[in-house]
Amino acid sequence: MYRTPRGTVDILPQDQALWHFVKEKAAAVCRLYGYERIDTPVFEDARLFVRGIGEGTDIVEKEMYTFEDRSKDPLTLRPEGTAPVCRAYIEHGMANLPQPVRLYYIAPIFRYERPQAGRFRQHWQFGAEAIGDASPLLDAEVIDMAIAFYSSLGLRDLVLKINSIGCPNCRPEYLNRLKAYYADKLDRLCPDCKRRAERNPLRLLDCKNEMCIPLTEKAPRSTDHLCGECARHFQSLESHLRLLNHPFEVEHRLVRGLDYYTKTVFEIQPPGAQGAQSTVGGGGRYDNLIEALGGKPTPAIGFATGIERVILNLQRAGVEIPRPGKPGVFIAFFGEGTETKAMEYAARLRREGIGVITASPGRSLKAQLRQANALGAGHVLIIGEDELRDGLVMLKEMADGQQRRLAPGEVITYFKQR
Ligand code: HAM
Repeated sequence: MYRTPRGTVDILPQDQALWHFVKEKAAAVCRLYGYERIDTPVFEDARLFVRGIGEGTDIVEKEMYTFEDRSKDPLTLRPEGTAPVCRAYIEHGMANLPQPVRLYYIAPIFRYERPQAGRFRQHWQFGAEAIGDASPLLDAEVIDMAIAFYSSLGLRDLVLKINSIGCPNCRPEYLNRLKAYYADKLDRLCPDCKRRAERNPLRLLDCKNEMCIPLTEKAPRSTDHLCGECARHFQSLESHLRLLNHPFEVEHRLVRGLDYYTKTVFEIQPPGAQGAQSTVGGGGRYDNLIEALGGKPTPAIGFATGIERVILNLQRAGVEIPRPGKPGVFIAFFGEGTETKAMEYAARLRREGIGVITASPGRSLKAQLRQANALGAGHVLIIGEDELRDGLVMLKEMADGQQRRLAPGEVITYFKQR
């Protein structure tokens, strides 16, 4: 028996309405804020992600699906959406367009993670990137858009956490302080953090291990060590968020798992959330990424949200979603020559925009009506030998069982009027 690979799921027909609903809301909010859709390949040059996300990160160290193709080129299944969008921005000369360039994507993402509730090896992200503007107004816009997306779905009371992790001017000094703080505490850290202490000390702050959490409390805070520009940027963002009426918490342990961030970072969590996989969306500023990937220095900010986690939260909140209609007409037939007549009528109705499902040949009329009922068809057209002879069809209303014989043209008029 073959099964879905570990950490992946099928999105079955009964789940599609919910998925469609979420993707439509994403597209609608992007239209409101002027973000245009971009689709990039599922795989990219592996070096794009190593350079973009950072060598010391969990994603690059442990989670990428990297392989050589038959030409021995190293390729990686997209483990996140920001680096590919920046690659496209540079490759297609988008720096020549009016800035910022606002883009969004809805795409599958691949990470070799330990699967658990809300954490998959293939998941989908809706992400948005605003490239080419350094103003904190844009940080506020992206956060506002993320919240607008969630509330358009009916998800409210989410918790917004923000932080600033500084820039290449102020961060080295902060990292030194962080290392100094941890220097005499290394033996109290989990094995992962012992490794991180040297290579990626920022990540010590968001370790979820019981051993490490108490130590993060008293650790130096990045917001206390920002340079003048980063501090002003953060203050402006805070005041914009107040103006937009978005309550937020400044979380000094929020550092995010990708190395490209500068200044603003943020995450959005459901109320009462615990653990890393409860975060429904996150993002931040990445003012140096485009340059690191070979473009001109270009500030940018973005966010992404996991669609599976959005859906999980919708289900938990009991949000009702509209179900799209199925074809309302079923064509049943029995007797010599009726099969092709059924096909002919079905084609005619569909050309008029009326959805039709036809029965499968060789079944009794009773079985066909049972199938129509199971499919939820409101009307059944029955073609027997009598109808075939008279050039008519029998219309049966499933609600009250009433039947009458009509000419094909009358059937079309009847459905069009409904
Ligand atoms: P991220 O926080 O790694 O950020 O992922 C964004 C969102 O994707 C998470 O908040 C979560 O909802 C979802 N997610 C991540 N990993 C998984 C998983 N294994 N299973 C299910 N859902 C998952 C980024 O990827 C950045 N590119 C976001 C960004 C855009 N920053 C700036 N622009």
